Amino acid sequence: MTKSIAVAGKGGTGKSTIASLLINRLVERGMKPVLAVDADPDCNLGMLLGSGEIETIGDLREELLRNIKDFPAGMTKANYIESGLHQIIGEYEGYDLITMGKGEGASCYCYINSLIRKFCDDLTPAYPWVIIDNEAGLEHLSRRTTTDIDALIVVVNESPLSFSCGEKIKEIISDINGRIEKIYVVTSMVNPRRLSEVHKRIKGLQMEHLADIPRNGEIEEVVFNGQPIREVKGPSLIKEIDRIINKIGG
Ligand SMILES: Nc1ncnc2c1ncn2[C@@H]1O[C@H](COP(=O)(O)OP(=O)(O)OP(=O)(O)O)[C@@H](O)[C@H]1O
Ligand SMILES: [Mg+2]
Repeated sequence: MTKSIAVAGKGGTGKSTIASLLINRLVERGMKPVLAVDADPDCNLGMLLGSGEIETIGDLREELLRNIKDFPAGMTKANYIESGLHQIIGEYEGYDLITMGKGEGASCYCYINSLIRKFCDDLTPAYPWVIIDNEAGLEHLSRRTTTDIDALIVVVNESPLSFSCGEKIKEIISDINGRIEKIYVVTSMVNPRRLSEVHKRIKGLQMEHLADIPRNGEIEEVVFNGQPIREVKGPSLIKEIDRIINKIGG
């Protein structure tokens, strides 16, 4: 059974970092292949994972819209679109990466979009774990571009604004109910002095508190040097990431 985790929260709280730490750790623990989904139009998961930039579903959608009238002879429209989708999955050591890119935009072409959704849904069962890095908004979740989710992780930091964002996420979730099994909170980069107060505030959110990701000098160094996050080895950090995996993995 596939376990899918979506990471959401206010801008800059550490969503992509936590998503990439989860992906690397799952691979390291042999819980692979992992399907990594970059649902942020800014697309930086690839960089953190060390796989670089790849063609996005948004690029493919544009290309299909341009070429849909003269697709190759002997191919159905659906086959043509599906073969394009297969080509944009990046395959790496222990994980595959799909990058959503730009949203559906004004030129909504429902046929293509529904095929893309079906493709993502059909793909999921092949992976024991799916990790989705979201943009600060919840566009992809609310637009149903991503697949069903077992655990939505809301990342909060010291900023009260990250808690307001958590409340908003809860509202969006209630509008799209049924597709998200459980919401958790993970703190990120909170000064240890403020951690107990932050824990109290989490109670107000009424979401289960799962882990505390500390500010980590190794992450800062690795990101500064443009290296992939997997170079980070801090045991206290790994312990928190394992806590998330073990809880959601059951
Ligand atoms: N645990 C950590 N220790 C030190 N630095 C961190 C940690 N987590 C994140 N950072 C740094 O904080 C910044 C924001 O992190 P990240 O990009 O993961 O946030 P985000 O929530 O994905 O941002 P966005 O909303 O822009 O997508 C980055 O410079 C990242 O390197
Ligand atoms: Mg991000």
